Order: sequence, then structure tokens, then C-alpha cells
Amino acid sequence: MPSCAATYDVSEVKTSCDKCGALLDITYDWDSLPVPDSLKWFEQKWSRRNEPLEKSGVWRFRELLPFASDEKIVTIGEGQTPLHPSPGVDQYVGMKTDRIRLQYEGMNPSGSFKDNGLTAAFSHAHMIGAKRAACASTGNTSASLALYCGMSQLMQAVIFIGSGKISYGKLSQALDYGALTMQIAGDFDDAMLRVREVSKKLGIYLVNSVNPFRLEGQKTIMLRVLESLGWQVPDWIVVPGGNLGNSSSFGKAFHELQQLGLIDRVPRIAIINAAGADTLYELYEKRGLRWNQGSPDLSIVDSYHAELDAASLRADTIASAIEINRPVNLLKCLRALECSKGVVREVTDQQILDAKSQVAANGLGCEPASAASVAGAKLLVEEGIINPEERVVCVLTGHQLKDPTATVAYHSSDQAEFNRVLGSRGVTTAAFANQAVQVDNDLDAIVRAIQLNS
Ligand code: F0G
Repeated sequence: MPSCAATYDVSEVKTSCDKCGALLDITYDWDSLPVPDSLKWFEQKWSRRNEPLEKSGVWRFRELLPFASDEKIVTIGEGQTPLHPSPGVDQYVGMKTDRIRLQYEGMNPSGSFKDNGLTAAFSHAHMIGAKRAACASTGNTSASLALYCGMSQLMQAVIFIGSGKISYGKLSQALDYGALTMQIAGDFDDAMLRVREVSKKLGIYLVNSVNPFRLEGQKTIMLRVLESLGWQVPDWIVVPGGNLGNSSSFGKAFHELQQLGLIDRVPRIAIINAAGADTLYELYEKRGLRWNQGSPDLSIVDSYHAELDAASLRADTIASAIEINRPVNLLKCLRALECSKGVVREVTDQQILDAKSQVAANGLGCEPASAASVAGAKLLVEEGIINPEERVVCVLTGHQLKDPTATVAYHSSDQAEFNRVLGSRGVTTAAFANQAVQVDNDLDAIVRAIQLNS
């Protein structure tokens, strides 16, 4: 906590403060570092794309996350992610044309934004000579860690996942890349608690977003957004909220850029929870929890957690990536909300899947959790909080192929399958379903069916 003010050296391996127990933050002595005097300065790097560190969408900004020496950085070409316009999504959300941009983090090597953070945490692990790295995961962190371990052969990945709580696309990545995969009887919140205990006990390097270096890497998602917008600051950043690492790191990125005089204003951040995993929404919007300049009222958090325990309430959403009730970055996220005049909303699984199908129908496939950002933007336009003229960036955090089960069920004409996968989540309709046409294996029948349907 800011009042504690303990500091630790970059070579130490810690995720929480010995004195106050809060998560740690990375700070830099900017006065003694070579910081560019404008963001445009980074453009000179575009001509050096044959150098791995200048090609990386994370490390070409390393002057703004200067904790590692070049020779210790482990990069696999992460962060080549585009910011796309989508006129169809503008229309769906209720914006004027060309006001929404989609930051497509599914294009990363492991198929999600996690690679931005993993390259940073992994480089720190390499700096301090770690031989094993661990995480708890709803699937994407583990896929990313397993990939960095596989590519670099520097460490063994040990991953903790909630049994039955991870989509097959993600599980298959971890297994295929050779991670030691621990399926815990429980959910992500259980796995998170355990991995913190186990990594402490066995001295395994922890790469969850409790690790402050992870968040340094994720800052670059926002740097690339600014880069794609010609260094113009948008009005809104809309991002799904799970463990709240992204939102925390985005807030830190903008705060630092403003302190360094590299931007003149901070966009508003909107964090979107799934309604079945809405701790942040409940605490921030309903119970009035605020960062309060570094002195949040933690009794609000404690009493909410006690209520969850008393009612044995577990997170429950089709957006399995954000099926989290005890986000570890809650406090850092409150700081980001304060600094960005942020808002928090929740959206139902129905809203998430409808938005997801509209994102895909306009050419950019994403997984359910990612579409919470678009569903949230639509809700905020309907509420009049986002003005249809404003510039909005929705972050698409993970690729469509991560979770085909939800997608196929949404488009299925088999009511039993629809009910099995989606009905239990309160999804009742598939307004934008694109059902496959069933047809006999007969030339005339196939021709007739195509003519009928096109
Ligand atoms: N979107 C996707 C696709 C994710 O995988 C996650 C988190 C989030 C959003 C939420 O991001 O935690 O920064 O608020 N997935 C983690 C994992 C928890 O284990 O892969 P956040």
C-alpha cells in the first residue's frame, strides 16, 4: 500500500510486500533513465523490424518498461496485434461510423493478450535464473507460459487449473507444449490460492498477474493502441475484467505517460464483468468501494468475501476466462479506475454471446470473455454514458478458436445441444445464429439448398 512505502530490488523474487502484504508495483527512477520526449520517437524503430527486440510489440517500447537488460529478454514475436475498425460493430453498439476500434490481442503467438505479460515476467524469471515457472489459470495464462517454456527451453512450466473449468482449446495448448498440468478439484479462485502457497514452498517462479512484471508487459497493449491511432488518445478503453491485471496495467500505463508528459489526458477505462462473476461491479458500483487516494475501505471487501463464503457462491459464466470471484488485482484496479474516471458494468452471458457473434460476423473472431468488452460498450451507449461520437477502443483479449464449444452451441440447430451448453447459463436465444444447413448427400438437393439459402 502507498502508506507502507517499502521498496525491494529488481533482483528479488516477490509478489507481495513483506511488511504490508499488498501486491508490489514496479517504479522507475525516470530522471536517471533515457526517456523519449515524445511518443513519435518510437516510430524510428519501425525500420529495424529485423531485430527481434524492435519487432516485438512489447519490447520496442522497452524504454517505458526498462527493468531488463537486452540480453535477458525472452521474446517470441509477441504483440504483432492490429487495431481494426469494424463498421458492423459500430452499428451493433450504437456508435457513429468509424468510432469503434477493436484491439485484436487474439493475434498473439499463443492466441491471447497474455503473451504481452508473459514475455515480461518470463524475462524477469530468466534474469534471476529460475528453472521452473508456475501459474493458476482459466487457460490463457497457462497456454502462454507453456509456449514460452517450450520455445525457450529455459524453464519447466507448472500450471494449476480448475478441473472442468477450462476450454479445450486452452487445455490442448498446455498439454501439447509440454507443461506439467495440475488439475485441481475446484475453480480458478481455489487454484490461485494453491499456486501461491506451492510456489512459495517449492521456490517456483510465479507468473500470474500478482507478478508486477507481468503488468509492465501488458502496458504495451495501450502503447500499440496509441501507435495505431497516430498517438491520439481515444475517449474510452473498454476491457473485460477477470483477475483485473489488464485494467490495472492500462491505468498504470496512462498514468506514467501523463507523468512523463507524453500524453496530455487519460482515456476513461470501462471494465466489464460477466454477471456471474461480478465482484468488481458489486464492490465498485453497488457498495461504493474506491481507491480513495491509496486508502480504500478494505472492510467493504472483507465483508463481501465473507458473504460469498457464507452463501458458498462460486463464479459462474460461459466466459470461462473471467470466471473469477476474487480478483487478485482488485486494489491496483481501483487505482486505475480513480486515475481514469473509470466505470464498471456487468453483462449477461446472453449479451456476451450475441456481441461475440457480431464481432465474428464482421470478421474478427474472439472468445466469449473478450466479447464482454463489446457488450459492455453497447450497454454504456444505451445508458448514455458513452456518446456515439466518442472514440472507443474495445480490447478483444483472446482468439475465437480458444473456445469453440460455446460458438458451435450458439449456432447449433440442435436444441438439446444448445440447452446443454448454454441453457444452463441463462442463454435463451441465439438472435444471430448462423445454422448449418442439413442436406442429403445428393447433387440436386445440395444445389437446391444453396439456391434457397443464398
Ligand atoms: N480475457 C481473456 C481472454 C482472459 O484469458 C482473461 C484472463 C481476461 C480477459 C481477464 O483479464 O485478468 O487481466 O482482468 N485470463 C486469466 C487466465 C485469468 O488465467 O488466463 P484480467
